[in-house]
Formats: sequence, structure tokens, C-alpha cells
Amino acid sequence: MDFLAVKNELEALSPELALRWISDHVGAKAKFSSALGIEDQVITYWIAQGLDIEIFTLDTGRLFQDTYDLLDLTQKKYNVPIKVYFPDHKQVESLVSTKGPNSFYDSVENRKECCFIRKVEPLNRALRNASFWITGLRGSQSANRQNMHLVEWDEQYQLVKYNPLLNWSLQEVEQFITLKGIPVNSLHKKGFPSIGCAPCTRAVLPGEDIRAGRWWWESSSKECGLHETKIGDR
Ligand code: ADX
Ligand code: SF4
Repeated sequence: MDFLAVKNELEALSPELALRWISDHVGAKAKFSSALGIEDQVITYWIAQGLDIEIFTLDTGRLFQDTYDLLDLTQKKYNVPIKVYFPDHKQVESLVSTKGPNSFYDSVENRKECCFIRKVEPLNRALRNASFWITGLRGSQSANRQNMHLVEWDEQYQLVKYNPLLNWSLQEVEQFITLKGIPVNSLHKKGFPSIGCAPCTRAVLPGEDIRAGRWWWESSSKECGLHETKIGDR
């Protein structure tokens, strides 16, 4: 089936039914990247209802203990395998030995280098052989994400990228989480709406942007490189 036919098919379905369609038609070559964020937990819940879609997470080695606790709880509660990708140890050893453990605070370039080694390179491995990439991105998370589409052709990875919750509000996600009793990161109720690596995430103040706590010392576009690939129309 060509990209436009898949796009039309998926756009006509609810996220839950679209994921089932992917499971039925694509199977093991469909992969969902979970950062254990609140949106990711909704998608994991749907996949755990018997869908044949691989769930994976990128363990940067710098995550919060609360995130590891949620990973553990989610695997146990839903009895789903969540494949964990680590960064290449040689690259981490070289980075930390030459630039120290906190080089990301020194410059945007250094920060992107750390994100590349700890997130992007492992993502490249995780998506090898994949033909579908499912994410928990939402348009209202940032200006950059507002320009994304529900179903996209990812030029870099040469696959269909599906963002099922792109058009959901945070409130809709939270309501679904409450309705289904889905576990979420305990940091959310301590003022962390968006959670990444521990040294690069702080709590936000009431009224602050939900991504203000990510790489808070930077005025960059606050992306780590996972979702900056070129998207084509195809
Ligand atoms: S980030 O790029 O700023 O770190 P964010 O935390 O908002 O991303 O998460 C958006 C989506 O990117 C998640 O729903 C998930 O699909 C993917 N993602 C981000 N970080 C990871 C991770 N560590 N492991 C797996 N997927 C991730
Ligand atoms: Fe490194 Fe921070 Fe990026 Fe995590 S978020 S990979 S610690 S720079």
C-alpha cells in the first residue's frame, strides 16, 4: 500500500483503531518510542490490549529514578515487553572522559552532542528495519510540533511516522489517564509536565510553558534531535 493510501486510512480512524490497523497490517515492523511521558502511557495502554507493535524506550543513563520506577510499574501492570536501548558505551566513555559528566551546560553544541550520543544514535538503531514509527508527540507541546502532521513520511528513516495524539489537548490526555487508571510519572504532580533527562529537566511554575523546564538554561528551540528530521509529502 502506498503512503497516501495509508495516510487516508489512518486519518479516518480514531487513534485506538488506527493502532489496531497498524498492528494487523504492519505487525513487527511497527515500533512505538515511549519516553514514559503521559501521552506515551496512553499509547502503551492501547498497545497492551493485545496489539502487535513493539514498544521501546531510549535509556540515556541520565533519567530520573521516578522514570525508572514508572518503566518497572508499566511493564508489570500491563505485562508488555518494553525494549530498552542504551547509548553506545564507547561514545559515552569518550564524551564523559574528555568533556566531563555535565558538558551539556557549557554550550548548545555540547548539549546536542550529548543528546546525539545518548538519544539519536540509539534511536537510529531502534528504527533500523522499521517501516512505521509511532510517537506520543502533541501539537500543542511547542510551536515546532504544531507544524507536524498526524501521519507523515519521514525522509531520514524512510518510514511512516504516526503521531496518534497530535491533536489531543493535555486535558484530554489527563482525562483518559484518569478514566483508565493508567500509571504516570510521579514527577508530574510535583510540577514537571514534560520530563526528559534529570540534569536537563526542572519543574515549571504555574502559568509557565509546559516545556520551559526542558534545557531551561537555553533559549534554543528545545529539541533533542529525535524529531528534527526532514518530513516529505511523498
Ligand atoms: S523530547 O524530544 O523533547 O525529548 P518528548 O519528551 O517531548 O521529546 O517526547 C516526545 C516523543 O518523543 C515521545 O512521545 C516519544 O515518542 C519520543 N521520545 C522522546 N524521548 C524518548 C526516549 N527517551 N525514549 C523513547 N522515545 C522518546
Ligand atoms: Fe544529555 Fe541532557 Fe540530552 Fe539527556 S537531555 S541526552 S543528559 S544533553
